[in-house]
Amino acid sequence: MDGLRWIAILSVGALLLAACGGDGGTSPGAEGSDAAAGATDTPSQAAGDCTLDEPVKVGVVFSQTGPAAVYGSTQLNGAELAAEEQNAEGGVTYELIVEDDASDPAQGIPAFEKLINQDQVSIIMGPTLSNTAFSTDPVAQDAGVPVLGVSNTAEGITEIGDYIWRNSLTEGQVIPQTIEAAVGAFDLQKVATLYGDDDSFTVSGHDTFVAALEEQGVDVATTQTFAKGNTDFAPQLTAARDADPDALVVSALAEEAALILQQAAELGIDVPIIGGNGFNSPAIIEQAGEAAEGVVVGAAWNSASDDPATADFITAYEEAADGAPDQFAAQAYAGMNLIAMAVESACSAEPDAIRDALGGITGVETVLGEFSFTESRDADHPAVVQIVEDGSFAILE
Ligand code: ALA
Repeated sequence: MDGLRWIAILSVGALLLAACGGDGGTSPGAEGSDAAAGATDTPSQAAGDCTLDEPVKVGVVFSQTGPAAVYGSTQLNGAELAAEEQNAEGGVTYELIVEDDASDPAQGIPAFEKLINQDQVSIIMGPTLSNTAFSTDPVAQDAGVPVLGVSNTAEGITEIGDYIWRNSLTEGQVIPQTIEAAVGAFDLQKVATLYGDDDSFTVSGHDTFVAALEEQGVDVATTQTFAKGNTDFAPQLTAARDADPDALVVSALAEEAALILQQAAELGIDVPIIGGNGFNSPAIIEQAGEAAEGVVVGAAWNSASDDPATADFITAYEEAADGAPDQFAAQAYAGMNLIAMAVESACSAEPDAIRDALGGITGVETVLGEFSFTESRDADHPAVVQIVEDGSFAILE
């Protein structure tokens, strides 16, 4: 894995050098000695031999409490593991400054403000939820501090501005493939949909599901909604069951998702349930138990990949954390490594230099597969479609 990481860093450096040579510009690293983070740079044109005298400060805003903590806890493990590995390499080291957004946009804003104004971080990773990112990311955009989202999948996040990046595939990049696979596997003709109508991510996911269903010629027999914190889904699930669908399509975050699965089983709904990115947590399988069997969900990380980097990551994560990694851990791990690639190819802790270097990342090896940023600062890498079998995510062939 270390070898792959350095190959990736070197290829980013080469790309940046090629880009700079092509237009007669200056390497981002060559003018990065006045780091906002206070680091004293020793700029280097060759990624891989960069050294910086001070650790690069990386702000991390994940949900450690509140309903999204099931995602935020594994995200933090993934980011910390990658930072530890980077620091063990020497050269450039990283200090993670971690803030809890409590799964709440109103608490995310002061977390971003502290990281930017008090800690003077070079870049921020997070926040966990798209719903929070729509409130926090404009703060960083206005301050000129880059943000790397590692789990935000709602449409429109990177449109907030040119300092906003993400390595998380959007719902629109994963759901069409998921619906196509489900239609093929279950011969779907009509479905019922159910979604939270008070959250940016669950609304975006539902919109994307509806478009993908239409594309596949699948009718939506009924659409039901719920709100954050609801615990009784019997009215919506009864209406869905009465529409006699071939599948239930659900856009929900973890807390509601697990309850929906349990209550659907109690109501005798035995058609496949197809979920969005919020279903990508083993915590949901654990909580819903048998009721999670057969759930179909697209994912940005293939835990069964035969890429040695995946096995190395799983082993290292299991040694460092209590339990196996999930998609959210893998995305945070990859996110920290992408930040390191950008810092080291720019050889600077200066936010603008890091932002520019992110733009040079193309075709690098990560635990998510071969990764590039798109022109719109979104992620481009392979996705997979999973099905829950025997209490674990398996690939839906
Ligand atoms: N993918 C979820 C979101 O974007 C966690 O909110």
